[in-house]
Amino acid sequence: MNLILLGAPGAGKGTQGALLVERLGLRKVSTGDLLREAVRKGTELGQKAQSYMDAGDLVPDEVILGLIREVLEETDTGIIFDGFPRTLVQAEALGPLMKDAGRSLDAVVVLAVPDEELVKRISGRRSCPSCNAVYNVYFDPPEEEGVCDNCGAELVQRPDDNAETVRRRLEVYRAQTEPLIAFYEKSPVPVLTIDGSQEVDAIADDIVQALEQTAV
Ligand code: AP5
Repeated sequence: MNLILLGAPGAGKGTQGALLVERLGLRKVSTGDLLREAVRKGTELGQKAQSYMDAGDLVPDEVILGLIREVLEETDTGIIFDGFPRTLVQAEALGPLMKDAGRSLDAVVVLAVPDEELVKRISGRRSCPSCNAVYNVYFDPPEEEGVCDNCGAELVQRPDDNAETVRRRLEVYRAQTEPLIAFYEKSPVPVLTIDGSQEVDAIADDIVQALEQTAV
């Protein structure tokens, strides 16, 4: 099974992606996590990506598509794409890339969350720079404040989670990524819209149920 998780910044793509990895045995591919790792390591990719990410803008399509080509080459399980595709160019390129890799896309899961909830979630998010686990000081705090439950690393606030950059990321989502919902609705791939404002486990249950009902 190959899925796309689509939703605004803070909609819970990473959180749900991690749960679906456990429930469905797929690999989660977050372009945001891959880019942040490259920035941390100071690779050529990271140097290209950092200024776009800090500004809340999208990293150029050709950079992202290069990353996805590598992922498809090295992965032999089903994939959950988290944060990809994000532009029409990326969505149009994905079909042929999947076909070349002998894969097809089974569903697009859209997480629908009101804007005021997105802003609260993002302001409370704390992330582990070592294992990418995600917490929230309001909704899902770690057992020990500031420390990752999984690996003990010190939690950080993402540099792009400040108020100004979050505003920009939401604008970019509306202008460049939200139109992908209409793009996929016109395609044969099922689009499953899920109420992403519920409790984390209830959302995951709804996703799994919607996938079962679509016979994916
Ligand atoms: P990326 O890392 O993909 O960020 P994003 O899309 O802005 O999404 P987020 O990671 O902010 O949110 P999420 O939906 O994963 O929510 P999460 O589960 O963490 O991209 C960052 C940047 O990289 C982009 O701005 C761009 O520059 C670049 N980039 C990445 N991909 C690209 C691409 N394809 N093309 C071009 N550029 C690209 O949840 C958020 C918080 O809410 C957490 O604290 C969590 O604990 C909490 N939470 C989650 N679910 C719930 C719930 N149900 N109830 C209460 N709290 C919840």
